[in-house]
Amino acid sequence: MKKILLWALLLGTAWAQTTPPAAAPKTTYVLAGKLFDATSENVREGVVIVVEGERIKQVGSAAEIKVPAGANVIDLSRATVLPGLIDCHTHLGSRADRYDPINNFKETPFTAGFAAVLNARKTLEAGFTSVRDVGSPPFLAVDLRNAINSGYLVGPRIVASGPGISITGGHGDLNNFSPETSVTLFPAERDYGIADGAEEIRHTIRAQVKYGVDVIKILATGGVLSRGDSPGAPQYTLEELKAAAETAHMAGRRIAAHAHGAQGIQWSILAGIDSIEHASLIDDEGIRLAKEHGTYLDMDIYNDDYILNEAPKFGLEQENIDKEKMVGRLQRENFQKAVKAGVKMAFGTDAGVYPHGDNARQFFYMVKFGMTPAQAIRTATYNSADLIDRLKDVGTIEAGKYADIIAVNADPLADVRALENVSFVMKGGVVYKNVR
Ligand code: ARG
Repeated sequence: MKKILLWALLLGTAWAQTTPPAAAPKTTYVLAGKLFDATSENVREGVVIVVEGERIKQVGSAAEIKVPAGANVIDLSRATVLPGLIDCHTHLGSRADRYDPINNFKETPFTAGFAAVLNARKTLEAGFTSVRDVGSPPFLAVDLRNAINSGYLVGPRIVASGPGISITGGHGDLNNFSPETSVTLFPAERDYGIADGAEEIRHTIRAQVKYGVDVIKILATGGVLSRGDSPGAPQYTLEELKAAAETAHMAGRRIAAHAHGAQGIQWSILAGIDSIEHASLIDDEGIRLAKEHGTYLDMDIYNDDYILNEAPKFGLEQENIDKEKMVGRLQRENFQKAVKAGVKMAFGTDAGVYPHGDNARQFFYMVKFGMTPAQAIRTATYNSADLIDRLKDVGTIEAGKYADIIAVNADPLADVRALENVSFVMKGGVVYKNVR
């Protein structure tokens, strides 16, 4: 047995050596034709970014920074350079071709693991150098984060949650099958995913923290893609949500609440939760409260397209299609309202519901529903870095931050869809994509 393990380890190492791109040279000069550094909504021209190791050492004009002869140069002088993008709502373990409930009876958690390995790379290559993963089997996102950080796998920086915490019969449970099947969504669901009442919620959050999560996800209302529940209806009480926020914060973790319905959104904000995911049916009082509490909204307004047009081909049931029709359009209109009101907005797409790598498709809708391209890009850079509490490392192009840098050939401030075709990706000073 020991011998087999040893061989597995050795093979693992050999494989690892063949995959990661070559180590970055010590100092690299990145020449940016145009730079949107996300510290403001402005663009500068003719900028040099000096990268040393995994961090940015200096950012300045070509006049200020002289590139020494023979230096390593990456010439992006015909492109627009931006900070690596951040998606605050992904499910790297999820596949967008798995809507038939029969899959719950066929697949093991390894299926999600395989998907995650592939999806992590796709996400990075699409220009997303950081993600907050908010729901996967225990503790896939934690393992994946560690494998990427140690250089074994290629992918974005991950802020990892465990399974979304759900009431019995709620959005995170497997509903409407015969009790004879005794199917649970995750092994040991009562330890890591299903919790009723403040005490069980506290236990579940503490158990997730014990196994290394960075962030807590709680399911405050019903959902679209679950069975037998209603997106508009609250699932946890205000008291339960307060216990959740308090326990997460005591452990130094932020907490995100899935909430479509107006009541659940208000309660989540009042409970002190840090971001509202989806926020589809937010009302005026919810908008007022979000502003008052400085709560981020993280609205996945691309999703509706894929759910209605593609997911039915992969077995999505009529119940879910009907629910999507109830919330999709309203969510986009309410996004516009919230933008007008000046609520803090992050960038979260629910990747995994639609195929990973298409994350940037959401920018188009953010602009269509009231943002300028610059505003939309800042949600996916500065604002999202702030929400995930990593502003000191990512989210802008500034001296001291990680060299997480992307480039696009067309001008994203003229047409934000330019971000759907990222031509250059650097993460931590290492180039993962460079197609020009
Ligand atoms: N995971 C979410 C749910 O099942 C997806 C909602 C997608 N719909 C939307 N319009 N954003 O509730």
